[in-house]
Amino acid sequence: MSAVPQSRSWPEEGVTRVPYWVYQDEEIYRREQERIFRGATWNFLGLEAELPNPGDFKTTFVGEMPVVVTRGARGELRCFENRCAHRGSLLCLKDCGNAKEFACVYHNWTYDLEGNLTGVAFRRGIQGKGGMPADAKPESQAPRRLRVESFCGLMFGTLSEAAPPVEKYLGPDVAAKVRRVMKEPVKILGGYSQVFPNNWKLYMDNVKDTYHASLLHLFFATFRLNRLEQKGGVIVGGDGGSHVSFTMMKTDTRAQEYEKAGVRSAKGGLALEAPQVIESVDEIGDGITLQILAVFPGFILQQIMNSLAVRVMLPKGVGRCELVWTCFGYASDDAKMTELRLKQSNLIGPAGYISMEDGAATSFVQRGVAGAPLQASFVEMGGRGVGSDESRVNETSVRGMWQAYRKHMGL
Ligand code: FES
Ligand SMILES: [Fe+2]
Repeated sequence: MSAVPQSRSWPEEGVTRVPYWVYQDEEIYRREQERIFRGATWNFLGLEAELPNPGDFKTTFVGEMPVVVTRGARGELRCFENRCAHRGSLLCLKDCGNAKEFACVYHNWTYDLEGNLTGVAFRRGIQGKGGMPADAKPESQAPRRLRVESFCGLMFGTLSEAAPPVEKYLGPDVAAKVRRVMKEPVKILGGYSQVFPNNWKLYMDNVKDTYHASLLHLFFATFRLNRLEQKGGVIVGGDGGSHVSFTMMKTDTRAQEYEKAGVRSAKGGLALEAPQVIESVDEIGDGITLQILAVFPGFILQQIMNSLAVRVMLPKGVGRCELVWTCFGYASDDAKMTELRLKQSNLIGPAGYISMEDGAATSFVQRGVAGAPLQASFVEMGGRGVGSDESRVNETSVRGMWQAYRKHMGL
């Protein structure tokens, strides 16, 4: 286990302070890979709907570790490291497809859909010459297998035997909100991927941060999709690492809190030329127009009106990460509903009206703290504890994430 330098001790104030070395330190980054991503956490692998048929596969990552996810002949889901037993090449180079087996391009060793090594080219040599010793055990270096669990059609994987079942990991309140969105079979509509010039945790604590949404994202407050005076709340679950925040837009009192506070998002007196971009239907029937749910370390489930998506955060080095979005609808949607979802997808993704600023803000932090590894952020909105709350003028879920982080990291 990698050691953490002495100077890297957490501020005594606890989760109300996040020391900036967590976003900068190579040693911390390596420890995260080992203790978080290859440790006792559940990592999002994709939607089951991405693998509808036997033999379907996709490749993705658990932290930096490349993995292959497959559906076997009897519908079972498997996940194994995308690393050839021979000399370590990726054994599958495609993003997705359908296969009976995988053959590593380097020297043609082959694998079945469970990741078992099934063939070694020229194992016995050619014409009695060359080949491997009779007692060689190349499968001793076989790709590691992950435990896979599907919860409501969401596939998660872990290398750890210690991770509790996914539902328990989420906590009952967060699990209920997953069920709320994943209420019926889904169909994939498309996706985006974007690279951020900042540490992966800056994006995750941005997602957990209910306070920024209507202040940073001008579109939200200007067109009253999300204002903090609207009814809503935040639920923190599991060991603090999972959360849900929600807003009920139709409870808007037309209060002028933002105008009175003079915040940037209340200026301008703008109106939409094409208001149909924010037209929505209450398809779940509970008045919740916006629900953002995140699960430590890197999974996000989003309902922004009728725009549904999953996102997964993939670390790519200390100061770089990739966010992969998959937009979906329900299998039962008619063409009109699909069109509505696609129209609303203008709101999200790398250039979305209400999400484009996130990548900027998180990289502003990475740049802002460049000379301050021993300083810390100040996270006391809504108090100093971790728990659910009715107010979203609150950083409770941010503190929850750092509580989980510290536990996994032993910091
Ligand atoms: S590295 Fe895969 S077959 Fe050699
Ligand atoms: Fe945001």
